[in-house]
Amino acid sequence: MTTDGHSIPCTGNGFIDAAHTSLMDHVEAIRCACADGASRDSMVPRFSRFADEMRMHFDHEEVIIRAAGFTRWEEHAGHHAMLDQQFGRLIDYVRDCEVTSDFLCTVAGTLDAALCGHEIRHDGDYTALVRDASMAPEGRTLIAWNSAFEVGVGPLDAQHRQLAELMNELDAMSRRGAPSGETLDLFGLLHDHVHAHFAMEEGVLRRVAPGRFVAHRNHHRLLEGQFSRIRQQVESGRLDTGVAVRGFLRFWLMDHVLGSDRPAFAETADAVPR
Ligand SMILES: [Fe+2]
Ligand SMILES: [Fe+2]
Ligand SMILES: [Fe+2]
Ligand SMILES: [Fe+2]
Repeated sequence: MTTDGHSIPCTGNGFIDAAHTSLMDHVEAIRCACADGASRDSMVPRFSRFADEMRMHFDHEEVIIRAAGFTRWEEHAGHHAMLDQQFGRLIDYVRDCEVTSDFLCTVAGTLDAALCGHEIRHDGDYTALVRDASMAPEGRTLIAWNSAFEVGVGPLDAQHRQLAELMNELDAMSRRGAPSGETLDLFGLLHDHVHAHFAMEEGVLRRVAPGRFVAHRNHHRLLEGQFSRIRQQVESGRLDTGVAVRGFLRFWLMDHVLGSDRPAFAETADAVPR
C-alpha cells in the first residue's frame, strides 16, 4: 500500500494490515475530495469519521502489541495519543474557522503524512514481534491453553478456557470454509459467553476485592465495546471471521486474562471457591 510514494510495511497481522489499508484508502479519498474543491461543511464530518477510525485502530493495535509482549507499548500508546490530539486540534480549527479550499487540502495532506509517518516509523518497532505472535501454522490450535493463563479462581479459569476453545473453533471453522451462517452463530454464542463471563467475574471481584471492582467493571465495558464492534464488522461482511479471530480476538482474550484479570485477582484466590 502506498500514499505519496511511501510504502507502509506489512506487519504480518492481517487485522492490523487491513486497518492500515482501510485508513490509507480513507485518507486518500479525503485528499481527492479536498482537491476536487469539496466545501468545508462537507469535509468536517469526513475528517471526524477519519479521526474516529484512526482512534479505533490505535485502540485495537494497543491491545495486540500489549498481548504480544511489546515492552514499549506504553510509549507507542503515547505516540497514538499525541497524533489523536494533533488531529483533534486541526479538525476543531477547520470546524470553527473560515478556511479556504487550499487550507483543506493542506489539512488532508497533514493527516496523511502524519499517519503514514507513524505507521512507517513507529509501527515498524513492533512488527517483528507481532509477526511472530500472529503466526497460526496449519494444523495447530490457535490458542494453546497453559497454566500460566490461570488467575487462580476455578470457575473463572474454566470460563477463560471455554472462551479460548470457542475462539479455536471459530478459527477452525473459518479455515475449513464453514458456511457463514454457522460461523456467525458461533460468533454470537461467543459473545453471549463473554457477557456471562464478565458478569460472573464482576460478581466475584466485588465480593473479594471491592477496591478493584469499579475500575475492572469499567474496563470490561471497554472490552465489550471492542468485541461488539468486531462482531458488527464481521456480520456486515466488512471483516473476515478468520482475520478477526486470528488477528485480534485471541490477543484481546490474552490481554484480558494476563494484563487485566491476573493483576485484579492477585492475592484474592484464597478468598474464593476454586
Ligand atoms: Fe498502526
Ligand atoms: Fe501505532
Ligand atoms: Fe476474565
Ligand atoms: Fe476481567
